[in-house]
Amino acid sequence: MDPVPWRDAWHEALYAVTLGFYVTRGGPATHFTTATHGPTGATLARALLELWAAEHGTAAPSVVVDVGAGRGELATHLARAVADVSGEEVGGAGAVTGTRVVAVDVVDRPEGLDERVEWLRSPGGSGLPAALAGLRDALVIAHEWLDVVPCTVAQVDASGTAREVLVDPRTGAESLGGGLTEADRRWADAHWPTTTPGDRIEVGRARDEAWSDLVSRVASGTLLAVDYGHTATGRPSGGTLAAYADGRLTVPVPDGSCDVTAHVAMDTLDADRVLTQREALQALGLTGATPPHALASTDPLAYVAALERASTEARLLDRHGFGGFWWAVKRVREHDVT
Ligand SMILES: C[S@@+](CC[C@H](N)C(=O)[O-])C[C@H]1O[C@@H](n2cnc3c(N)ncnc32)[C@H](O)[C@@H]1O
Repeated sequence: MDPVPWRDAWHEALYAVTLGFYVTRGGPATHFTTATHGPTGATLARALLELWAAEHGTAAPSVVVDVGAGRGELATHLARAVADVSGEEVGGAGAVTGTRVVAVDVVDRPEGLDERVEWLRSPGGSGLPAALAGLRDALVIAHEWLDVVPCTVAQVDASGTAREVLVDPRTGAESLGGGLTEADRRWADAHWPTTTPGDRIEVGRARDEAWSDLVSRVASGTLLAVDYGHTATGRPSGGTLAAYADGRLTVPVPDGSCDVTAHVAMDTLDADRVLTQREALQALGLTGATPPHALASTDPLAYVAALERASTEARLLDRHGFGGFWWAVKRVREHDVT
């Protein structure tokens, strides 16, 4: 088989209908754990509503959208969190008023998903569904979406020129192709300049464009991308392209057998603020501090609940774990979406 650009092979390997890892191999939670799963997901969902309240001064938006929703884990936590803060029923046919919660991913609606959560099927990668448009008073979250948006992978050759890396989809064997397209070269020159032979460049243009496409679908509200990534002062010279299968790091072979991911250049996204999750959550009041022991004797149940909350907060704040993730926050003020 002829080698093809990583970006194309990567897209097929994750999203092709017959082969794609995310389409055919079960939800992400069957392969790895993220902050959206279990108790950390519940704490994160509450913090996201705090973010909304801090920015907009209301308890909840009209619609919450989770792009790259897995099987709806975070969306379910968000539906519960919205119900808690608003004291109202959320979304769904029976809802009196309140907030819609919409989850978007590349498969059909998962069986057993909380009925308060609406579901939209998406093409995958940089593609988003047409129905996702004109969102008003919206909180839009993309938690670990952009790292699985395939991007151009380049390597500097012996003469100091960045060339596209090709891959054999059956084996993962790499070879160097031609020079970068004009648009990729401009991105690399501006954001990841290097002429050191052997250096890799993961050209963030596809992620920037996918994110801008998502932003363009919001007429008013706040968007948040949460991902592992880097900024201009810390580009990883060896690149970060990696693959996971059955929860383990494996050799990236774009044959549909594994997740293929690369860190995100967070500072090139169209955003108002880029900060670490630890900084963001601390600003929202999370501390991870354990409750006073005295509470254990006066109110044991409250003590246990506070202890659990403290431990999930501590996990989300851990600078060597989830706290080291990046947040890119973008506020969109009312305008006409065409
Ligand atoms: C790394 S997983 C993260 C899942 C979940 N957000 C979490 O943090 O646990 C990436 C998810 O993004 C989904 N995805 C990729 N491209 C997408 C797109 N264009 N629209 C919707 N979902 C997408 C994948 O199918 C996968 O479920």
